[in-house]
Amino acid sequence: MDPLKHLEDLERRAELGGGADRLRRQHEAGKLTARERIDFLFDPGTFQEIDKLVTHRCRDFGMDDPDLLIPGDGVIAGQGRIEGRPVYAFAQDFSVFGGSLSETNAAKIVKIMDLAMKMGAPIVGLNDSGGARIQEGVLSLGGYADIFLRNTLASGVVPQISAIMGPCAGGAVYSPAITDFTVMVDGTSYMFVTGPDVIRTVTHEAVTKDELGGAMTHNATSGVAHFAVPDDRECLRLVRELLGYLPGNNIDDPPRRDTSDPIDREDDALDRLVPESPTQPYDMLDLVHAVADDGAFLEVHRHYAKNIIIGFARLGGRSAGVVANQPAHLAGTLDIDASVKAARFVRFCDAFNIPLVTFEDVPGFLPGTRQEYGGIIRHGAKLLFAFAEATVPKVTVITRKAYGGAYCVMSSKHIRTDVNFAWPTAEIAVMGPEGAVNILYKRELEKAADPQAVRAAKIAEFRDKFANPYVAAERGFIDEVIRPRQTRAKLIAALGALETKRDKNPPKKHGNIPL
Ligand code: HXC
Repeated sequence: MDPLKHLEDLERRAELGGGADRLRRQHEAGKLTARERIDFLFDPGTFQEIDKLVTHRCRDFGMDDPDLLIPGDGVIAGQGRIEGRPVYAFAQDFSVFGGSLSETNAAKIVKIMDLAMKMGAPIVGLNDSGGARIQEGVLSLGGYADIFLRNTLASGVVPQISAIMGPCAGGAVYSPAITDFTVMVDGTSYMFVTGPDVIRTVTHEAVTKDELGGAMTHNATSGVAHFAVPDDRECLRLVRELLGYLPGNNIDDPPRRDTSDPIDREDDALDRLVPESPTQPYDMLDLVHAVADDGAFLEVHRHYAKNIIIGFARLGGRSAGVVANQPAHLAGTLDIDASVKAARFVRFCDAFNIPLVTFEDVPGFLPGTRQEYGGIIRHGAKLLFAFAEATVPKVTVITRKAYGGAYCVMSSKHIRTDVNFAWPTAEIAVMGPEGAVNILYKRELEKAADPQAVRAAKIAEFRDKFANPYVAAERGFIDEVIRPRQTRAKLIAALGALETKRDKNPPKKHGNIPL
């Protein structure tokens, strides 16, 4: 046979995956095929596929049938460019044995992970798989464990992103779980450790696949996923956008973008953002959008623990990781979910040289037995630990409340934040004036003829004395009290000054974050 024709035939077979019928079924299910996903993810013409001709080695259960030796073995792996920068990716091909993971299929994934680590490039996994290749037994399980090991070793070295674009069940979920960001496609993807049938047998609970592990379950309830998207195209577009904020590895700096948004742009509306009443909420996202280049903010974990906002913005062209209390939800208190959500994000940014910008309006930790029994002590400590150990440039803006332990936790000066700003509306105190007066003047209030009047007077006195940024500014805990409308300019100037920051933690194997 003509050698070129032979190669062409093999490649065509690889490209056909599980065959036209199964590819059609993939489309009918509302999904792109694995090859279409790869094409959509990468800059046109840049993807270099490897191991296209790899076949499985299983000879049991009729798997030695030559028709089942499908070149590529159910996963497309390789490297290409996204906005001109190198990225490694694999895409599981559901049309080949349900995208299940065989020994050789795992070896392909492991190969590109090892290459990505050596090259210092991000890894993107497009997951669409029925799990372990049942015919291969422990060889498949070993393949998973090989991948989990790479996920762990690559953590903090190169960014890892998982897109869940179909089934992802059983132990297979632990690869995405270790990676930095998980995107789920609404309606066509699901993740669970044990499925609805097993749950029905064991706990007698009736639950659908989507309720148990669909995109919104993991975005809003479990917090396992960071993004929910309506379809495959949006999923891949989002992965591209996310990578645009990240460096290729932990030694590189994040990419800088030219911006036409003036670095000294003022926003008068910010002078009126904080309402007069200290109990009235406002939307902290308005501030984030107002200061960011072109108002662009890629919010992460948008549906989960809405009392804290995390995500990426650019300030003067530089990537920044934003952490912000959200007074419009649970009054911006810190609870277990918010602490864990923000802590992991802070550690991601710190690992990848992305400066942290914190906007603070926090009345404290959320009270209640659910929180205490759930371990708010341990979980709140994660956020404290994460901010304290972070050595990237750190800038904080206190817009209103900075009360109690939450003051210390939210990137305060005391835990090595480089630049701490406060707005004139900031209230930095052990607690709010009402709570403080109730404790400090308890006996006096009990005895007073007109307790309401005494309380009001004491509250006003406390507010004047302590509920402001000036006591902290006198001590240098606040570097500067700034006009709200100038926040963007101040942040950009601070980040510019911190660009050469070098800081480190004492030598150790690793810390012991309270997990
Ligand atoms: C081999 C598999 C497979 C698997 C699916 N297929 N899963 N082949 N190993 N794990 C094959 C099917 O035989 C079928 O082949 C094709 O893929 C498509 O599957 P369908 O069932 O027709 O598709 P659909 O109806 O969409 O259902 C998808 C599914 C279902 C829900 C994922 O296939 C399923 O339940 N699969 C088994 C899931 C599972 O139990 N996996 C092991 C989990 S344990 P044909 O030739 O008919 O097209 C695990 C452990 C990981 O993964 C451990 C890590 C430590």
